[in-house]
Amino acid sequence: MTLLSFDHVSRRYSVGGSEVHALDDVSVTIDAGEFVSVIGPSGSGKSTFMNLCGCLDTPSDGRVTIDGVDVAGMGEERLSELRNERIGFVFQQFNLLARTSALDNVALPLIYSGVKRKARHIEAMRVLERVGLGEWANHHPSQLSGGQQQRVAIARALVNEPVLILADEPTGALDSHTSAEIMCLFQELNGQGISIVLVTHEQDIAAASSRKLNFRDGKVLSDERIEQTLFLEPGLEATA
Ligand SMILES: Nc1ncnc2c1ncn2[C@@H]1O[C@H](COP(=O)(O)OP(=O)(O)O)[C@@H](O)[C@H]1O
Ligand SMILES: [Mg+2]
Repeated sequence: MTLLSFDHVSRRYSVGGSEVHALDDVSVTIDAGEFVSVIGPSGSGKSTFMNLCGCLDTPSDGRVTIDGVDVAGMGEERLSELRNERIGFVFQQFNLLARTSALDNVALPLIYSGVKRKARHIEAMRVLERVGLGEWANHHPSQLSGGQQQRVAIARALVNEPVLILADEPTGALDSHTSAEIMCLFQELNGQGISIVLVTHEQDIAAASSRKLNFRDGKVLSDERIEQTLFLEPGLEATA
């Protein structure tokens, strides 16, 4: 089943009187359940692609559909509903609220979904446990390691039970051992049926996915299915 479809999609920006083709005639489809890595040099269009996947932006040309629904036909309100219900976002810098406990950080998206306080806390606790941080619920981000903070951010992305997680360089701020643990978690979530699209510029990290989309100058240079490297439990080296 197709989850995301890009049909001749371009995204142009006008900069100082000239046009920048951030994405240039990209056609690609991603099925439900896939784990796709997006690689390419800086400026090649990776973030632009992710923003379109996440309904944070609309194309200059061409068509983006999610679950068969044309994103261009949706109003801003419907788009933000779609984002909140179906998509979880994970970023390089975690983007947690500093003066807020892990639990309240995770519970935040549920406020926008209209869930009551008590139920929010029960749900948030459930996902914190799912990412192995149940005992850290009352700690603030500054009391947590980088890897733990990224787990909190992943829990926040999971709290609305998304079908798709979009992660833009989620291991970019982590050491290689912690990165492997985070990739192990993504693989576990993918195994539970969540689709993942993940930007990285490290081949080691891309190896966790089963498909590599390689961007260059706003175009898809190559699109290859790869043998997935399994990242095992914490403490174990990644093996093929
Ligand atoms: N808001 C914007 N305004 C102008 N140019 C932009 C904007 N966003 C991205 N670009 C340009 O589009 C190209 C692709 O950017 P981006 O998608 O951020 O690449 P990547 O994430 O691969 O580094 C770059 O040349 C960048 O400068
Ligand atoms: Mg980028």
